[in-house]
Amino acid sequence: MRKTIIVSNRLPVKISETDGEFILHTSEGGLATGLGAVYREGNNIWVGWPGQEIIDLKDQEKVTKELRKTNLMPVFLTQEEINNFYEGFSNETLWPVFHYMAVYAHYEQVNWDAYYQVNQKFRDIILKVAEPGDIIWIHDYQLLLLPGMIRAALPEISIGFFQHIPFPSYELFRLIPWRAEILEGMLGADLMGFHTFDDTRHFLNAASRILPVNTSANVVSFNDRAIVVETFPMGIDYDKFVALGSDPMVLQQIKNLKENFQEDRLILSIDRLDYSKGILQRLQAFELLLQLHPEYIGKVVLYMIVVPSRDTVPQYKELRDEIDKQVGNINARFRTLAWHPIQYFYRSFPVETLSALYNFADICLVTPMRDGMNLVSKEYVASRNNNDGVLILSEMAGASKELIDAIIVNPNNIGAITRAIVDALDMPLAEQQRRMKQMRQLVSKFNIHHWVKLFMTRLQEVNEMQQNML
Ligand code: UDP
Ligand code: G6P
Repeated sequence: MRKTIIVSNRLPVKISETDGEFILHTSEGGLATGLGAVYREGNNIWVGWPGQEIIDLKDQEKVTKELRKTNLMPVFLTQEEINNFYEGFSNETLWPVFHYMAVYAHYEQVNWDAYYQVNQKFRDIILKVAEPGDIIWIHDYQLLLLPGMIRAALPEISIGFFQHIPFPSYELFRLIPWRAEILEGMLGADLMGFHTFDDTRHFLNAASRILPVNTSANVVSFNDRAIVVETFPMGIDYDKFVALGSDPMVLQQIKNLKENFQEDRLILSIDRLDYSKGILQRLQAFELLLQLHPEYIGKVVLYMIVVPSRDTVPQYKELRDEIDKQVGNINARFRTLAWHPIQYFYRSFPVETLSALYNFADICLVTPMRDGMNLVSKEYVASRNNNDGVLILSEMAGASKELIDAIIVNPNNIGAITRAIVDALDMPLAEQQRRMKQMRQLVSKFNIHHWVKLFMTRLQEVNEMQQNML
């Protein structure tokens, strides 16, 4: 039977070890939810890294056995591969360049070599399980060479590729010494997807300027094959966030928040620790708010969750120290005996707590410098069952192309973010509801299941078109 093989750097599970036993925890991530229906079915498989170094062969066997029960297949990475492929090329070269922070990028041959080799490692595992007629759906920037590597081995197989982060303009992309190899790798796919039209356009532009290819509209002709490049804005599990609003655990947590914050207005901020998320600028805007509008002192709280991420990469570590410093300064400067301006958490929370916060917060402040999509903004919208609340959203997030009823801001314009917060605090209920209803309709319709279906259907159509061209 024809199967679907999903491939991403990280598997949709977390592993913990107690007394030599490995326990799997399902991940709450959007991709895991959306593709859950796909990979759990029949003999489908999800291939990826289990997220930590497992050296012992017996341990590897144990983990593999455990994962296979739920159709997951591990790719084990050595510490050196984690350093050079994951932290190195993926997160110190591709991530900064693709998020327009080229000054943070390093271009190291040893990291590129590791990136190439780890993509080959993924290829070898896929080749062990792939059969003619299968569909392979590869995800994200850690695996840009994989479509080409699989295509070379299996010329007829159906390959989809989706990139979850931005694709930068040619002027940024051309900085990468291995730019041609990267594009050739991506063009091994039959269908390539990005979150926004700009990402799609940037890819097509880079391909036509760097490679000897023909592009016509959204089709690239390369090695006698036609590759379709399209925009598929990713959605979330809308129904899940709606339903969480009446979960007893969530209701209890909302009650606790009400008791803690009483009349305070709450501004919510949730991100992974990442320089692309604009956390420092957001803190500056909040500081400016308290400085220019002392009437809000004692009345408005910034509830800020920063989820630890990639903390072995130097820029991430530095950012953490800088956030600690700024939060400390603002709290020391403005706090009163009974009130702290910023409630700051450096850890992750279960989805029930996130849901309670989404439900409770008057404002959700999402101001990335660049973001492929940004799911937090959509989760806030989906959670607002009363249709109230205000979303402030950076124009640099992919989500801003859809959530046009948010207050849209330039994340570099600190004054504009401060003004947006004031506008949000002052916004009449009717206006909040008008905007929120529009956004909820959109998030509800273009949900994660819709996204998966659209991509898979399109991939099939592209394969049929290619057959007819032969
Ligand atoms: N998230 C989580 N636990 C937390 C905070 C956030 O699982 O404590 C989830 C959040 O619900 C969202 C995802 O992490 O689904 C973040 O996705 P987003 O697209 O906003 O940013 P990314 O981290 O992918 O850059
Ligand atoms: C973004 C990327 C994903 C990545 C996630 C978490 O959403 O698009 O590919 O998995 O961040 O980052 P991490 O480095 O912990 O996998």
